[in-house]
Amino acid sequence: MNKSVLIINKINKFDKKIEVSSDKSISIRCVLMASQAVGCSRIYNLLESEDVISAINAIKSLGIKVVKKKNYFKIFGKGLNNFATNNNRVIKANNSGTLSRLILGMLVKFEKNIIITGDQSLKKRDFQRVIIPLTNFGVKITSKNKKLPIKIRGTRFVRPIDYLEKKGSAQVKSSIMLAALNTPGITKIKCIKSRDHTEKLFKYLNIPIQIKSDKNYDEIKVRGLKQYNSFDYIIPGDISSSAFFIVLTLLSENSKIVIKNVNVNKTRTGIIEILNRMNAGIKIKNKKIYKGEEIGDIFVKSKQNLKSINCPRYLNSKAIDEFLLIFLVSAKSKGISHFKGISELRHKESDRLKIASDILRMIGVKIFEKKDSLKIHGNPNLKLSKNFKISNFRKDHRVFMLSCIAALTLGGNWKVENSESIKTSFPNFLVILKKLGAKFKYDTKN
Ligand code: S3P
Repeated sequence: MNKSVLIINKINKFDKKIEVSSDKSISIRCVLMASQAVGCSRIYNLLESEDVISAINAIKSLGIKVVKKKNYFKIFGKGLNNFATNNNRVIKANNSGTLSRLILGMLVKFEKNIIITGDQSLKKRDFQRVIIPLTNFGVKITSKNKKLPIKIRGTRFVRPIDYLEKKGSAQVKSSIMLAALNTPGITKIKCIKSRDHTEKLFKYLNIPIQIKSDKNYDEIKVRGLKQYNSFDYIIPGDISSSAFFIVLTLLSENSKIVIKNVNVNKTRTGIIEILNRMNAGIKIKNKKIYKGEEIGDIFVKSKQNLKSINCPRYLNSKAIDEFLLIFLVSAKSKGISHFKGISELRHKESDRLKIASDILRMIGVKIFEKKDSLKIHGNPNLKLSKNFKISNFRKDHRVFMLSCIAALTLGGNWKVENSESIKTSFPNFLVILKKLGAKFKYDTKN
């Protein structure tokens, strides 16, 4: 049953310390990397959301043993290119773009037909972005319209590539890196900067990798076929999940929050950089380094005098999953905000640029949406009292959570469909909201 959530009251003031769910990107990468390590890895604090469970099921169907213990998962890796499964095995990636794209890279040398498929939302997304580079490795990939389902057949004659990645996609970059890991010789990738968890894991696991960076691009070289040992990893909190509570606090009255133990890798903190340029005064304290990743506590207070932003393009990939929230803050800030070069938002679990525009328009915000940009006329006095219904958003988890935050901070009577969508990335989102004092009801009628 896919329940709607009804919200008719703004949240009252709160002052709390919370922890959010574990990082989804790092969870999926740890599961996949552990499957090709030599020996048994132990992953603590793994995010137990649908995307990550799909990753566990994927490696299991490739012959990898996984055992769930009380607070960790044991993954019995078999080294590079040692998967074992029947020909024409189907892997269901469900809603996960990260899993589907990264696992394709891991299969370049595996000489069996594997079919990757996904749910209705994932089947609409672009896979040309990984089909092109992976085909260059010499792999056979077949699909209709460059979308899922995709059939891949690896080859023992796989060869390294030299590739220019211009979308700023960490999924594409990581898919190529995982293919490079399974390929003899040196693969070179020049790419627009994006989240670098795969690079950090490669370094930590002593996989031969070199990175040269300038302002916009990273040049990555990976030498393939070096076996690496199993590892232990404790997954930190997810900044993309924290972002909902950062914005909830910022737009509420007289409230404070501390979000503990969050991954604050500089390639992910775009939301904080952008909101601080808008006068948010968010602080990160108690920073430490864990296996190359930065972890810290995020401190946020409610803020009255937020101002608009002309968002620099270099921040786009650092905040790629947080733009819905950034648009909401812009709607409640003084002045006109501009966002350019953001067409990648149209290729997420839903067309987030269109849906954000629809929601903002619905709540009376003046906006100009173009193919690749958004202009938002902010109003610090924005307060709502009408009825609003959020539906038809391809069950995009982030649209559901954004709508809850809008309802709890702006007022009005909201019905937000598909509460089950949070299982993708942040299963305890509503539990934490409740702990902060948010009031909502469930409705099973549409
Ligand atoms: C992710 C990369 C981003 C992001 C997604 C997770 C990852 O996608 O939107 O939620 O874990 O690599 P793109 O690589 O398509 O930008």
